[in-house]
Amino acid sequence: MGQAITKFKVGDRVFGTAAPKVGAHAEYISLPEDGAIAPIPKDMDDIEAVALHPGAMTALPFIQGAANIQPGQKILVIGASGSIGSSAVQLAKHFGANVTGVCSTANVDMLKSLGADHVIDYKKTDFTNSGEHYDIVFDTVGKSSFSEAKRVLKPQGIYLTTVISRSILLQMLWTSLLGGKKAQIVFAGLRPVEEKKSYLALLLDLVKSGKYKPVVDRSYSFAQIAEAHRYVETGRKKGTVVIDVNRKATSHT
Ligand SMILES: NC(=O)c1ccc[n+]([C@@H]2O[C@H](COP(=O)([O-])OP(=O)(O)OC[C@H]3O[C@@H](n4cnc5c(N)ncnc54)[C@H](OP(=O)(O)O)[C@@H]3O)[C@@H](O)[C@H]2O)c1
Repeated sequence: MGQAITKFKVGDRVFGTAAPKVGAHAEYISLPEDGAIAPIPKDMDDIEAVALHPGAMTALPFIQGAANIQPGQKILVIGASGSIGSSAVQLAKHFGANVTGVCSTANVDMLKSLGADHVIDYKKTDFTNSGEHYDIVFDTVGKSSFSEAKRVLKPQGIYLTTVISRSILLQMLWTSLLGGKKAQIVFAGLRPVEEKKSYLALLLDLVKSGKYKPVVDRSYSFAQIAEAHRYVETGRKKGTVVIDVNRKATSHT
């Protein structure tokens, strides 16, 4: 805290993002007062507050930013049980969309509890054979391709993916020059700070009104960070995994 700081006082609990700067696996970090930080709602614990950011702050620039999602539109979310996916399902419902989530059998009930209108179990059904057509296909885990998604996109539909590849960059370029179906990737951490602040404000409103709740898979102490990474790298986590730097325990909860 410097002398000129007016928005916060010592002891305030805050959450937010340091992106594109890295280093938030730390007990302390220095951020400007006018950065993308906000007070943690008083009924929310630190673990949940940390988990607010990675999913929702990545999903919002895709579905509200790039796709400009509208009430009544149909969205297919691939990887809907992950961090970005579980956020995208809840946020798309908030925007009034009809949401279909794609996940494995083990996560079907969780997706329904998050508000998904329909769930496709990819162990049983290939989403390209669903017979449905969507305004938005949002692949949050990079498990599909634009050519697959095109089969289920409406004529002006948009395919979003979080995972960079040479093909998505080329597809984004050439589909931006033509009418019809579009492909797009967004780099959420690189969005301007004012945009991030608007997403934080929306998120806080949704949390306070009970319309958004981050999915926390489990948390680990800092001493267990290698185990935490190994778990995340299985590709099977549900929602977000949190590192609790204050916890002394040596196993996850
Ligand atoms: N562009 C950006 O700005 C940006 C920002 C942040 C992250 N990312 C990237 O986004 C990606 C996703 O991150 P995340 O943390 O949200 O993922 P995550 O939580 O690790 O994803 C795990 C989930 O993926 C599901 N999954 C695995 N294979 C699947 C498949 N074939 N079909 C459908 N679901 C499947 C799993 O569910 P099941 O167990 O049911 O299969 C699991 O629940 C990462 O590659 C990350 O690098 C991009």
